[in-house]
Amino acid sequence: MKKIGGMLLVVIMFAAAGCYYDKGELVYPRASTTTPATGCDTTSVMRYSVEVVNILSARCYSCHSGTASGGAGFKLDTYSSVMSMANNGRLVRAITHTGPQNTHMPLGGSKLADCDIGKIRSWVRSGALNN
Ligand code: HEC
Repeated sequence: MKKIGGMLLVVIMFAAAGCYYDKGELVYPRASTTTPATGCDTTSVMRYSVEVVNILSARCYSCHSGTASGGAGFKLDTYSSVMSMANNGRLVRAITHTGPQNTHMPLGGSKLADCDIGKIRSWVRSGALNN
């Protein structure tokens, strides 16, 4: 009799804990996942001529455009050059720092913001179009 009472208590405690957790989810719905994404839209169509060029010109052209010599001959200031780097995987690998150290871009600088990485990734995944 004593044993059954104890088990009942345990079951009630679990049930109570379950209710508390459910209420917490309702009061704070997905608080931790919505905060960092605020102001970052990577779901609409990303354009080469707008989002991609904006990011590359701000963070990459200093070494990878025109007569700049800092980029070891890699150019990222024309659609065809960016598209080929997108399609062979080196562009995303470089900005996500997933390849060898010497390919972590921007070289010697701070990593792109998560939002900007998301935008470039989204453009690449959609086919790296000249849009
Ligand atoms: C300070 C100069 C500098 C900046 C800024 C810079 N890069 Fe680079 N980048 C280099 C150099 C140097 C290499 C050649 C690295 C090597 O092969 O050792 C390189 C190589 C690359 C490569 C080829 C990597 C590979 O797979 O071999 C890509 C792609 C690239 N950069 C993209 C970018 C992007 C995108 C940005 C901006 C977010 C950027 N770089 C900013 C200097 C720079």
